[in-house]
Amino acid sequence: MVQPWHGRSAIASVGLNRNNSAPTRCNVERLVDELLSVGYSRAFTAALRPQEAQPFLNAGFRALEDLAVLRHGLCLPLATPTATHRRARRKDHLGVLTLDNRAFGDFWRLDSVSLKEALQATTTARFRVSTQGDAIVGYAVCGQSAGIGYLQRLGVAPESFGHGIGSALVMDALKWCKRRGASHALVNTQLTNLRALRLYRHLGFLEEKERLHVLEWTPE
Ligand SMILES: CC(C)(COP(=O)(O)OP(=O)(O)OC[C@H]1O[C@@H](n2cnc3c(N)ncnc32)[C@H](O)[C@@H]1OP(=O)(O)O)[C@@H](O)C(=O)NCCC(=O)NCCS
Repeated sequence: MVQPWHGRSAIASVGLNRNNSAPTRCNVERLVDELLSVGYSRAFTAALRPQEAQPFLNAGFRALEDLAVLRHGLCLPLATPTATHRRARRKDHLGVLTLDNRAFGDFWRLDSVSLKEALQATTTARFRVSTQGDAIVGYAVCGQSAGIGYLQRLGVAPESFGHGIGSALVMDALKWCKRRGASHALVNTQLTNLRALRLYRHLGFLEEKERLHVLEWTPE
C-alpha cells in the first residue's frame, strides 16, 4: 500500500497489507521501480516487525527509527490520576491536530488523514481529550481488535507536560481495554522517546523483546 506521506507528493508512505503473505525481496524491488516511475524521491515504511523489515533492507531500504513495543497485562486498578478528560467531538479534531503538531517532532506528526486512520485502525476505538478552558491540552486514541487493546496515539501540550495529563489518559485507555475484555494492551514508541517510555513503565507496561523498525528509502 503506497500513498503520499503527509500529503507530500514526492514522499511515499509504504504500508503492509497483513492479510497478504509477507513481502519478498522481489516484491520490494518491484515496489522500488514503481516508486521511481511515479516520481517519488523518498519513502518511509510503516512500523515493521523484524521479519517484515528484512526484504526491505535487502532491497536497499535503510533503518530510520527503532521502536520499543510495550505490553500491559491490564492488572488494574492503579491509583487513577486526577486530570480529567472527555470524549472527543468532531469539532475537536483541528485542536487535536494543532496540539499533536506541537507535541511531536516533524516525522511523527499526524494530519487529518492519519488521525482518521488511527481512529479506524481497530475494530472499536476510544478518543478522549483533556481540556483547560477552551484549549485542548492532551488527547489519546486507543482501540481494540481481536481481544487486544492498542494505545494508538497519546499527546500532551508541551507547556502542560508533567502534570499527570498523559498518565490519566493512559489509565483511562487501559481501563477501557479491560472493560472491553482485552487480554492485554500494546503501545509502541521510539527508543529515543525517554519521557514516554518512563511514563509507560511507571504505569506497569513491560517492554517486549521484539522491536519494530521504520525504514527509509531514497534512490541511490
Ligand atoms: C509522553 C507524554 C504523553 C507524557 O505526558 P505528561 O502529561 O507529561 O505525563 P505525566 O505528567 O502523566 O507524567 C510525566 C511525569 O510527570 C509526573 N507527574 C504526574 N503528575 C504530576 C503532577 N500533578 N505534578 C507534577 N508531576 C507530575 C509523573 O510522575 C511523571 O514522572 P515519572 O514518569 O518520572 O513518574 C508527553 O510528554 C508528550 O505528549 N510527549 C510528546 C508526544 C509523545 O511522545 N507521545 C507518546 C508517544 S507514544
